Amino acid sequence: MLKLLYHKRILTFLCGGTVFLALLFTAAYSSAQDEEIVLTIPESTSRPAVVFPHELHTESYDCLECHHNYDETGENVLDESDLEDGNPDILCGACHTPKSKVHQREAFHRQCMGCHEKFIFNKRPTGPVLCGECHVKKED
Ligand code: HEC
Ligand code: HEC
Ligand code: HEC
Ligand code: HEC
Repeated sequence: MLKLLYHKRILTFLCGGTVFLALLFTAAYSSAQDEEIVLTIPESTSRPAVVFPHELHTESYDCLECHHNYDETGENVLDESDLEDGNPDILCGACHTPKSKVHQREAFHRQCMGCHEKFIFNKRPTGPVLCGECHVKKED
């Protein structure tokens, strides 16, 4: 009897644990899959903010294609589990500051346009490369 009770407890524990884990996964998954992210740079003023269809891009690319943290040999050592909503360390501006070699605007421009241009070159469907296609004026 005691033994049975013990097993039941383990079972309850396991079930509870699974549900908990499932919830955790759903939360992590859905938050990392934010459909669109409005990109801004603190000092941005001259151009309308860029709406970035993040989820669309995650359908075709690995996370580490864009997200990185390079070690001294230049290898991308970012741990994918760090890619969570609200983690300030993964934001581009965490490393690409006005003082860094590649400042923030350049980091965005090079990553976004660099890839889009590659696809134009290959004559494949691609994203915008013209200023006004990314910095879209809001209609009022
Ligand atoms: C095509 C490039 C690209 C790919 C691929 C990509 N991301 Fe992102 N992600 C970005 C950019 C750009 C941002 C905005 C960062 C900023 O605001 O500084 C971002 C932001 C995020 C954020 C932060 C959201 C927030 O508001 O806190 C998370 C979490 C994230 N990405 C997770 C992922 C995961 C997980 C994957 C893979 C499934 C992934 N990303 C694939 C470019 C990409
Ligand atoms: C943990 C720090 C860190 C974060 C976060 C980070 N970067 Fe970088 N990035 C670097 C470093 C270091 C380099 C190498 C050049 C340098 O020393 O500045 C680099 C280089 C680049 C380059 C030029 C070389 C290349 O890989 O093409 C681009 C473009 C770039 N980052 C874009 C981004 C974007 C966009 C984001 C956000 C999605 C981002 N970075 C987030 C540290 C970071
Ligand atoms: C690694 C390659 C890559 C990177 C990096 C990338 N894109 Fe794209 N992007 C694409 C491709 C390919 C498409 C076309 C997808 C399609 O039509 O299926 C696209 C499409 C788009 C579209 C059009 C979506 C639509 O509904 O037609 C926008 C807007 C866009 N990208 C913005 C951005 C911005 C902003 C960044 C930088 C933060 C960025 N992209 C970084 C490859 C990339
Ligand atoms: C593929 C998308 C894309 C294209 C094309 C693009 N940009 Fe950007 N740009 C961005 C992103 C993302 C940022 C950073 C977020 C922001 O400030 O909205 C940015 C930031 C900027 C900034 C700094 C922020 C500000 O508002 O002062 C300027 C200036 C700028 N872009 C000018 C241009 C010009 C000029 C062109 C055309 C030659 C251009 N951009 C084309 C995506 C793009």
